[in-house]
Amino acid sequence: MKEIFVLFVDDEENVLNSIKRLFADETYGIAVASNAEEAMAIIAQENIKVVLSDQRMPNVSGVQLLHRIKMQYPNIIRILFTAYADLTSAEQAINISEVFRFINKPWNPNDLKAAVVGAMYLYDVTMENRRLMEVMKSKNQELQVANCRLKVLYDVQKDFSSTLSHELRTPLAAIKAAIDIVMSGTAGGVTDEQKNFLDKAKDNVDRLNRLINNILDLAHMESGKAVLNFQSGDINKVIRKVAEAQEAVARNKGLSLQVNIEPQMPPVSFDGDKISQVLNNLIANAIKFTDKGSITVSTKHPKGSNYVEISIQDTGPGIKEDDLIKLFEKFQQLGQVHTKVAGTGLGLAISREIIRQHRGKIDVESKLGEWTRFYFILPIDEGRAV
Ligand SMILES: Nc1ncnc2c1ncn2[C@@H]1O[C@H](COP(=O)(O)OP(=O)(O)OP(=O)(O)O)[C@@H](O)[C@H]1O
Ligand SMILES: [Mg+2]
Repeated sequence: MKEIFVLFVDDEENVLNSIKRLFADETYGIAVASNAEEAMAIIAQENIKVVLSDQRMPNVSGVQLLHRIKMQYPNIIRILFTAYADLTSAEQAINISEVFRFINKPWNPNDLKAAVVGAMYLYDVTMENRRLMEVMKSKNQELQVANCRLKVLYDVQKDFSSTLSHELRTPLAAIKAAIDIVMSGTAGGVTDEQKNFLDKAKDNVDRLNRLINNILDLAHMESGKAVLNFQSGDINKVIRKVAEAQEAVARNKGLSLQVNIEPQMPPVSFDGDKISQVLNNLIANAIKFTDKGSITVSTKHPKGSNYVEISIQDTGPGIKEDDLIKLFEKFQQLGQVHTKVAGTGLGLAISREIIRQHRGKIDVESKLGEWTRFYFILPIDEGRAV
C-alpha cells in the first residue's frame, strides 16, 4: 500500500477517474474527493501534503475549501484549478486561501505531475526547516542554561581563589616570621647546615607569596573589579625608568640592555604602575631566559597609525611555534630555568589582562635558537595623533 500524500477534489466523476489513471503508477498514493466534506474527512485520516481543488463545485467553492484547509492544516500546500476566465476566484484564492499556485484546466498531464512533485518537495522542505528551527530553539535554550551555569561556576571559582589566597597569606606570614627569628639566632644557635635548609624554606615561602599575590592580582582583574588609574602621558618615560632599573640585572648576567626609543611618540592613556608591571615582566623574562647577547627595548609609532608599539627582543633560545599560543595562558612554563628565583608562570597571563584592559594587544614572535620578540600595542589618545 502506497502512502497517500496528495488529494484531488473535483465534483466531476470523469475528471477524478482520469486523475486516478494518470497517477496510478506513481510511487506515492493519491486520494480523490468529490466534495468538501469528503475532502476534510480524508485529510483528517491521511498524511496529506498537497491538496488540489477545482474552483467550481456546488455548495462549497474551491477557494472556500482551500481556505478551510489553510485554517485547520496550515502546512498543507494548496493548489487551485482554474479556468482562464476565472480571474475573480484567482484573486480570492491568493488573498483568502494563500494558494501555492494555479493550474489551468484542461491540464497537461506532465505539467500536473511536475506541479504535484514540486508541491510535495516544498512541503517536505518546509517541514524539515520547521523541525530544524525547533531543534535550534531547544539547543539555544540548552546553551543559555549552560551559559548561566558556567557564569555561576566562574564566579564561585573566582571568589574561591580570592578567599583561598587571603586565607593563605596569614599563616605564610607567620611561617616567614618564625624562620626569620630562628635564622637571626635569637632562639638559639644555628649551624651552617641548618641555615642552609632555612634559606631554602625562606625561598619557597617567598615564591608562595609571589604566587598568591599573582593569583589575587589576576582574579581581581578578571573579575572586572580592578580600577585602573589611566593618565595621558609619554610612554617613553615609563620605559626608560623600567629599563634603567633592570639594567644592572642584565649586566650581572653579562647581557647588554639597549633602549631604542622613537622620540616623537603621541600621548597614550595608560596606568603607569600596570604598564611598568608588564614591562618588568617582559624584560625580566628576556633576561632570565637569555644566556648571551642583548635585550633591546624599543618603541615606535607607525606613521598614520592609531597606536604605539612597545617591543622587547632578546637573543635567547627562542620558543617553538606550537608553544607560542600557549604562553599567555596561566601557569605555562616551557623550559625549566635554573634560577634562584623560580617563576610563577603567571607573568604573561597578568600582562595580557593588563593590556586587554588598556584596549591594546600583546603578542609574541620568535625564531627558535635565535631570538624572541614580545610586543604590545596601545591605542593613542583619540584626535591627538601626530
Ligand atoms: N623571552 C623569552 N624567551 C623564551 N621563553 C620565554 C620568554 N618569555 C617567556 N617565556 C616562556 O614563557 C613562560 C611564561 O612566562 P611568564 O612570564 O608567564 O612566567 P614566568 O616568567 O615563568 O613566571 P613569573 O613571570 O611569574 O616570574 C616562561 O616560563 C617561559 O617558558
Ligand atoms: Mg615572567
